[in-house]
Amino acid sequence: MDWGSFYMRKRSTYYYDDTPEATELRRLFHKIHRLQLEKKDQVFMVTSSNTGEGKSTIAAYLAIESARYPNNPTLLLDCDLRRPMVHKLFGLKLQNGIADVIEEHKDIGTAWKDTKLPNLKIVTAGAVHRNPVDVFTSKRFTQMIYNLRLYFKTIIVDAPPIIPVTDTLLLSNEVDGILFVVMAGKTPKRVAIRAMELLQDSKKKIMGAVINNLKSVLPYYYDYQYYNYKYINEDALETTK
Ligand SMILES: Nc1ncnc2c1ncn2[C@@H]1O[C@H](COP(=O)(O)OP(=O)(O)OP(=O)(O)O)[C@@H](O)[C@H]1O
Ligand SMILES: [Mg+2]
Repeated sequence: MDWGSFYMRKRSTYYYDDTPEATELRRLFHKIHRLQLEKKDQVFMVTSSNTGEGKSTIAAYLAIESARYPNNPTLLLDCDLRRPMVHKLFGLKLQNGIADVIEEHKDIGTAWKDTKLPNLKIVTAGAVHRNPVDVFTSKRFTQMIYNLRLYFKTIIVDAPPIIPVTDTLLLSNEVDGILFVVMAGKTPKRVAIRAMELLQDSKKKIMGAVINNLKSVLPYYYDYQYYNYKYINEDALETTK
């Protein structure tokens, strides 16, 4: 299945609710939300060891699920300044995003963009070319995250990968929790372990691993039959009330 095309096919709701993938992501967000209630965590970074492992896709879906919770204003923040993707997934302009706010001393309130979900706002990576290391080590960036915490209950950060650049290590100082994406059948175990070691002091923030693309490795895992079975039971319960 081509995840990217969900956005294109059904822009009003972003993706089909009844797919096994959507169900898994909803479950994942329920877990995060429980931790949020216990620990008052707000800012969650989605990262992985290398490029193309599904970080942006998972961050986007998690943000959608989060925004669907009642009274849960959510922000999706594209912190992958080198390979920005969030604006493409949601059909937004790259301009007036993080790099622009930092460079041009703008108020963050002028930068978040609306989406079809009233509770979901997005800050894109921005079009100004700045060294991401300078951005993430600047006082203005720390201040920006501080301010965003006042406006949003949940902030999902789409981060760069850990191995090729140091950006993610710097970003990890600003977040409360880290979700580590592993692409089933692609991410070698030793590379994933090395990436987690590189997180150093922020290692304790790792909430868990998200195994992406399990379907291609374990085809029976996403068997629609099992999901349909569950739905049929729910329908039956509904009619016997
Ligand atoms: N489970 C999946 N099944 C099929 N395609 C997937 C899956 N997860 C991601 N993809 C596709 O793989 C490509 C890379 O995904 P994505 O951009 O989310 O990865 P990324 O880790 O953010 O990459 P980058 O490191 O470049 O930022 C996209 O085309 C996306 O649609
Ligand atoms: Mg990405």
